[in-house]
Amino acid sequence: MSPSTSPTSVPGSTELRAPDWWKTAVVYQVYPRSFADSDGDGVGDIPGITSRLDHLSRLGVDVLWLSPVYTSPMDDNGYDISDYQDVDPLFGSLADLDALIAACHDRGIRLLMDLVVNHTSDEHPWFVESRDPSSPKRDWYWWRPPRPGHEAGSPGAEPNNWAAAFSGPAWQLDEKSGEYYLHLFSAKQPDLNWENPEVRQAVYAMMRWWVDRGVDGFRMDVINFISKDPTLPDGPVLPGQALGSPFAGSANGPRLDEFLAEMNREVGLTDRHLLTVGEMPGSTIELARHVTDASRRELDMVFTFEHVDLDVKPGGVKWDIADLPLPVLKRNLQSWQLGLADVGWNSLYWNNHDQPRAVSRFGDDSPEHRVSSAKTLATVLHLHRGTPYVYQGEELGMTNADFGSIEQYRDIESVNYYASAMGLGLDREAVMRSLLIKSRDNARTPMQWDDSPNAGFSAGEPWLPVNPNHTFINAAAAEADPQSVLAHYRALIALRHKLPVVSEGDFALLLPDHDQLWVIVRTHGDDRLLVLANCASQPVSAPAAELPDLAGARVLLATHPGRDGLDLLPWESRLYNLAR
Ligand code: GLC
Repeated sequence: MSPSTSPTSVPGSTELRAPDWWKTAVVYQVYPRSFADSDGDGVGDIPGITSRLDHLSRLGVDVLWLSPVYTSPMDDNGYDISDYQDVDPLFGSLADLDALIAACHDRGIRLLMDLVVNHTSDEHPWFVESRDPSSPKRDWYWWRPPRPGHEAGSPGAEPNNWAAAFSGPAWQLDEKSGEYYLHLFSAKQPDLNWENPEVRQAVYAMMRWWVDRGVDGFRMDVINFISKDPTLPDGPVLPGQALGSPFAGSANGPRLDEFLAEMNREVGLTDRHLLTVGEMPGSTIELARHVTDASRRELDMVFTFEHVDLDVKPGGVKWDIADLPLPVLKRNLQSWQLGLADVGWNSLYWNNHDQPRAVSRFGDDSPEHRVSSAKTLATVLHLHRGTPYVYQGEELGMTNADFGSIEQYRDIESVNYYASAMGLGLDREAVMRSLLIKSRDNARTPMQWDDSPNAGFSAGEPWLPVNPNHTFINAAAAEADPQSVLAHYRALIALRHKLPVVSEGDFALLLPDHDQLWVIVRTHGDDRLLVLANCASQPVSAPAAELPDLAGARVLLATHPGRDGLDLLPWESRLYNLAR
């Protein structure tokens, strides 16, 4: 391992961060609302997170990515921020956050803040001021008059045809001025106008303030939306949709590189060896390669959406669910591996606070196969090249929520989708089925710490129902079981820290068209690893002729220790060390 990429085992203070330290790191995402509640109000908070840091230390992760804890009206659970430089009382105080940062650093864990700067809350003072057409802040947001020839408020009078991500048009009329403002998400999340240099400077100043407070980097929310086509052109109307897609006009705009490079320079992101990961819906390999090219000094890595959009019907939206054949998924991840092999860097994830639970979506969460499939999915992902992200509870094999009624959902996207689908007369059962599979609330049920009534998450009534399966899927049970999903994650994370071939090795996919087997070879100098994984709930025989010789190969990690040979049980996987 080269000294420049070695993860430091020392507290994560600024001076001690090595360049590219994140190449051997594993990031753990905490969704504060659902992690640990210290004060019994049913909502997770910062002191709760601090009290559970030993769980992260024992797992061995290097970085904690904290979803937003800023002051917020909570229209989108904190992704609507009304003060970037304070903590919402629901989550605690700035002093609590300082204590969390210090406690992380004491354990050698770095802390990544969520940076949500494509939009603010409509209750942010910048936007409140901007409502006045004569205010100097008017141009900080995208205010536009009605479409020519239309009267404000009349059907079709919105300045363009864009749909918002959370249903309805992406424009909200302000009665007082008779103009509309743009919101790509909810009407309480107005988009900032990054064309205005004052906006950019205000954001950079805020970021510097957090860096000075000790944070180690930023996860950047929908960061490829900050540069838009300033003409805001109508988008194509997809079949079955009433409104146009905003994507072409609102993402990856002409000034994206300029804004990212400027931000990097002004905040000193690369200079200070801070970690940056940009969430980029719709980004291509080409774009990701470009913005993560180290010589450009823009971002360290991006979150692609390609692999989590593969189970959508062609031309459909996320709720139009299609089957996902394994070769399609394998080839997609392979194309990102190859595309970013020599330039740029990948992030690796199966799930987060916006996606269903990995084991329910890509694995098999039935009692027979849940544990094996959670482990196998972990092995496959962590043996790709890139920086793996673990979403809270993934390391326990937590499953989807299994809500039976619409009243149980809290997520604005799910609740609005249901209302608009009912308004359009869609089949209720089909809509509920889509929610069951795809709702963001699947990932947001409280963390399952133990088998007590509220899973050890809260002494009060949890804001979102606890999954009843916490009686047997929980951290305490996993701690006591050497064969648990948790133990498997620990082993994988330790291997990444120990073996340069895991973090840096070249990647090759074997048997790309096999519809059950996922076979990966990683090579680094003389070191060679092989992942042999059955990603199906049926047994399979691996074809010896198409695999490297396994005679003498040592098993480093397995779902079913003690077994060997080419006949694999459902969801059985092994990681071999191949002698060269
Ligand atoms: C990102 C966040 C998501 C949020 C949206 C708007 O996609 O991950 O949770 O709703 O941006 O901020």
